[in-house]
Amino acid sequence: MIFSPTGGTRRVATVFAEALFGEAPAQSIDLTERALNLSLRRFGPEDVCVVAVPVYGGRIPAPAAARLGRMSGGRAKAVPIVVYGNRDYEDALLELYDILSDRGFDCVAALAAIAEHSILHQYARARPDADDRRTLRRFAETVRPRLATAHAPLVLPGSHPYRDAESVPLKPKAGRGCTGCTLCAHRCPVGAIPTADPTITDKSSCISCMRCVSLCPVGARTVSPVLLSAAGYLLKKACAEPKKNQLFLSRELP
Ligand SMILES: Cc1cc2nc3c(=O)[nH]c(=O)nc-3n(C[C@H](O)[C@H](O)[C@H](O)COP(=O)(O)O)c2cc1C
Repeated sequence: MIFSPTGGTRRVATVFAEALFGEAPAQSIDLTERALNLSLRRFGPEDVCVVAVPVYGGRIPAPAAARLGRMSGGRAKAVPIVVYGNRDYEDALLELYDILSDRGFDCVAALAAIAEHSILHQYARARPDADDRRTLRRFAETVRPRLATAHAPLVLPGSHPYRDAESVPLKPKAGRGCTGCTLCAHRCPVGAIPTADPTITDKSSCISCMRCVSLCPVGARTVSPVLLSAAGYLLKKACAEPKKNQLFLSRELP
């Protein structure tokens, strides 16, 4: 299950899941689909779910949390993954783990992984790279035997109550080049762009995920370059040092 507006989270999750599942039959659920109704899905103890979401302001995106919160885990095994742009993930992994545990999933391991920053592309550029992919495959090899053993609850970084979910003030706009193709309106995870006039963005529902910017075929959707360079400057120190992918394993029970 993947919430990946601009593809970085999907790249991480795919490498890990392919290595974990091998030849076993698998299917992908796109959590950005507005029509998705996960309450209709039934999971059981024989299922293994890799659930990957990006980090937004140290939390997980609210629509991903809402969609996952309607599931019923049925004691399926799960591996929560948060993917972040080399700044920090704060409470996001704990939040994802809490949701999955509350919904009846049995989380055997958890990952925090890096992908190119989807707003400030100068940070973690081109990650996951070859080294990251090797690491993610190694993590999958470590996790696989754990799927069959009893284990204690995971202990993860983060704290309760979670930090406030703050809206990012960077809201994309369509410029003159917009051809009105409505691709952005159809693919927006929250329906913030009306199909009747895709040059408009509903700022109150936009989550600044940058999907519309990344998929516009003519590059007509952009965010303010002034705000972008200010944000880049503010995060320079926090994002400078390349961070490592992390795997969290629970203690095995006798
Ligand atoms: C609104 C927003 C907020 C973000 N907040 C953070 C953050 O708090 N920490 C961080 O390291 N990266 C942050 N990022 C970067 C994303 O977590 C990262 O690029 C992720 O891979 C994006 O996933 P995607 O490519 O699947 O859309 C943020 C990106 C967006 C769009």
